Amino acid sequence: MKDAIINVEGLSHSYGKTVAVDNIYFHVEEGQIFSFLGPNGAGKTTTINLLITLLRIQKGQITISGVNVAKNPDAVRRNIGVVFQDHRLDRDLTIWETLEFHGKIHSLPKETRRQRITELLNIVELGDKRNAFIKNLSGGMKRSVEIARGLLVHPKVLFLDEPTIGLDTKARQRIWHYIKQINREENVTVFLTTHYMDEADQYSHEICIIDKGKIMANGSSSSLKNAIGKDIYHIKTTDDLKASQILANLPEISHVEKNSNGLLLYLKNNELSASKLVKSLTIHQIKLGNLNLLKPTLDDVFIYYTGRKIDSTVDA
Ligand SMILES: Nc1ncnc2c1ncn2[C@@H]1O[C@H](COP(=O)(O)OP(=O)(O)OP(=O)(O)O)[C@@H](O)[C@H]1O
Ligand SMILES: [Mg+2]
Repeated sequence: MKDAIINVEGLSHSYGKTVAVDNIYFHVEEGQIFSFLGPNGAGKTTTINLLITLLRIQKGQITISGVNVAKNPDAVRRNIGVVFQDHRLDRDLTIWETLEFHGKIHSLPKETRRQRITELLNIVELGDKRNAFIKNLSGGMKRSVEIARGLLVHPKVLFLDEPTIGLDTKARQRIWHYIKQINREENVTVFLTTHYMDEADQYSHEICIIDKGKIMANGSSSSLKNAIGKDIYHIKTTDDLKASQILANLPEISHVEKNSNGLLLYLKNNELSASKLVKSLTIHQIKLGNLNLLKPTLDDVFIYYTGRKIDSTVDA
């Protein structure tokens, strides 16, 4: 096992009476892409702000690259790059000026600065737009500039709060392409938050599901899927409402979800044969139209642990 580059122990944070983060423990191994996945208000930004020294730690302990965040925030800041949830760019600067300015405040020597900016603009494919004003860029391009800025001083860990929020599919894919390239080629550990299930599933090495300030599950996408047990039946019947009530009482079924195409039956560890399923319905005069056996998705994992669907249509 590689060493943990981020270690979080017993972290809690409240805003007045609102408990935003509730006694969480997790670690991130060096070199990983780690996704913090959760719905709106889950506590993702609060956690990231605690990690990046923007919020004062009320309770618990964080170390990044061996440095205690509460005791030595300046040293932590030197090791990290940050991309915030909301754009923080000066609209009236050009791309090049934005990065130059950042390099200067971090005391990068002139030649190093130029080389690094050129290198990063090549990665995010903005080299030929270096003199364009921020205000004239698309949302995806602005994100790319922010990512380049976050990487300017070779951070050990890059923190990204909802890097793809509000972007179209193509721009989202492009941002992920850059994140993966950076992770691989620059050897940067990536900690990001997202409420896009598909992205966490597809691109991250490790996923941590957070809901209402608590960590519900943690692991690789496949281990999370395997951990929720057996497969899922997708069925369509002549009376889905009645069928869902009957089937929810079967000992082999953990719970039943209704969707527009029928019912999803989440099986517990013990098997439920198709014939027993059919029998349980026919004795109540319900006929089965369709029956498919599905493998669990990350959506299913989320529902399993939180009892509800993540609402990725709500963009903050
Ligand atoms: N500055 C603040 N003052 C008071 N309450 C806050 C503040 N920031 C966040 N909260 C509350 O803390 C909880 C967690 O918020 P947080 O922003 O950490 O969630 P999030 O997972 O990042 O959500 P989103 O997906 O919408 O960005 C929410 O209930 C939110 O209303
Ligand atoms: Mg947030």
